[in-house]
Amino acid sequence: MSRDLPGACTRIVRISGRDLGRFKENDARGRLGCWEVSQTPSPDIEILAEAADYLRTKDTPVAFPTETVYGLGADSTRSAAVRGIYSAKGRPSDNPLIVHVSDLEMLQDILAPPSTTNGVAATSNDRIPKRYKPVIERFWPGPLTILLPNPTPSKLAPEVTAGLKTFGVRMPKSPLALSLIKLTGAPLAAPSANASTRPSPTAAEHVLEDLDGRIELILDGGLCPVGVESTVVDGLCDPPVILRPGGVSIDELRSCPGWEKVEKGYRDESEAGKSAPRAPGMKYKHYSPKAKVILYEATVGMSQGDMLAQDVEAFVEGRHARQIPTTEGEALRIGIIRTRCWKPAAGLRCSRFEKGETTGTATGQGTQGAELDVQEAEFYDNAGQRLAGRLMDVSIGKDARSVAQGLFSALRELDRRSADIIFVEGIEDNEDIGAAVMNRLRKAASQIRS
Ligand code: TXA
Ligand code: MG
Repeated sequence: MSRDLPGACTRIVRISGRDLGRFKENDARGRLGCWEVSQTPSPDIEILAEAADYLRTKDTPVAFPTETVYGLGADSTRSAAVRGIYSAKGRPSDNPLIVHVSDLEMLQDILAPPSTTNGVAATSNDRIPKRYKPVIERFWPGPLTILLPNPTPSKLAPEVTAGLKTFGVRMPKSPLALSLIKLTGAPLAAPSANASTRPSPTAAEHVLEDLDGRIELILDGGLCPVGVESTVVDGLCDPPVILRPGGVSIDELRSCPGWEKVEKGYRDESEAGKSAPRAPGMKYKHYSPKAKVILYEATVGMSQGDMLAQDVEAFVEGRHARQIPTTEGEALRIGIIRTRCWKPAAGLRCSRFEKGETTGTATGQGTQGAELDVQEAEFYDNAGQRLAGRLMDVSIGKDARSVAQGLFSALRELDRRSADIIFVEGIEDNEDIGAAVMNRLRKAASQIRS
């Protein structure tokens, strides 16, 4: 299992992210054929080149940002390097990793038989199944992972696929990630850079929280704009199947030729146990903060708000106390994550909100992420006399995209503020990337109110 690196000191290195590279124009292999790293010398390129060198030669992974979440990358062609990922994360070895490529040239090279790997022969031979063409054209670079047959023999280390006959691959959108992969000169295997079972990291500080002392380098490119992981699809079967909902929604997939009938092949926690999951990772406990999470399904509707106030009061009255270990003598700390309808602080009787200290997850300019605005207040019992505890209230937006962006960050932030329990307002799962949001929340929740 996970071990600390003897004497390792984890460094966060900031990268501004400007002018790192671009796709070569008029490439014979098409728009995504070849990613070119900027030739103009800059401190950013120097750092990336050093990180790439580290990835080629060391067996400890490097954390880097993608548009979805931070990844924990290693050279996917070297077994020792890939094993480094599993040990840093404490990840079960039967859960395969996603391979990240910088361009189609790199993907074709993985798919080519060994005899054709040197140059022209490999690239002139297109081995990507037709079914994937429209989704690659539409969503790459971006949050879509596709399954492809793993050739035998394969250039990928066996630890990447955990014994499966397929491998999952995507082309991330972040220029930082694309340039890092290109400079390494090999596809990078990368799971999310959290410790196993914790919420995925959407800021460099989240990675540090989980992996301090276990890796040496975190490349900081600011907040991740999507905030939930990629959608994983299997287009090798008919009809194609979604194995994990993510940054590309089912409606977006359905609008692509050959994908009109794409099926949902995953089950949320509330439907669990009906059959074995097809993406091995979906069976594990996931996305969990230390606090107990109570999720309210959007179907509860407007009555949610009233139910919440009652639940908070019931919780405080100690009716739920046996389930929640709290430090004796300390005030209860209750987190509330709001999306659409809930009133601030659940409409409970509170002292005036104080703005809490800055969250520390906003890592600076050049990112599209919003800073979390957690408000803290003391709240009182019904009669308004007895201090009942402390509320920590955060709104993460009303539309599915902004909820996705702030979700993991909010769960982590409330953990950092030592919440004993977190109440979360769910959203519709049939809208945009609501399916991904609700899938993660149902996994994180120990109780679902519907
Ligand atoms: O957005 C993302 O996908 C992020 C960033 C870093 O790219 N990565 C990520 O990786 O979420 P990870 O390891 O946390 O999740 C990978 C998921 C797991 O559910 C795994 O079981 C599934 O993809 N997967 C990978 N290869 C597979 C395969 N060959 N067959 C079925 N499922 C596979
Ligand atoms: Mg993960």
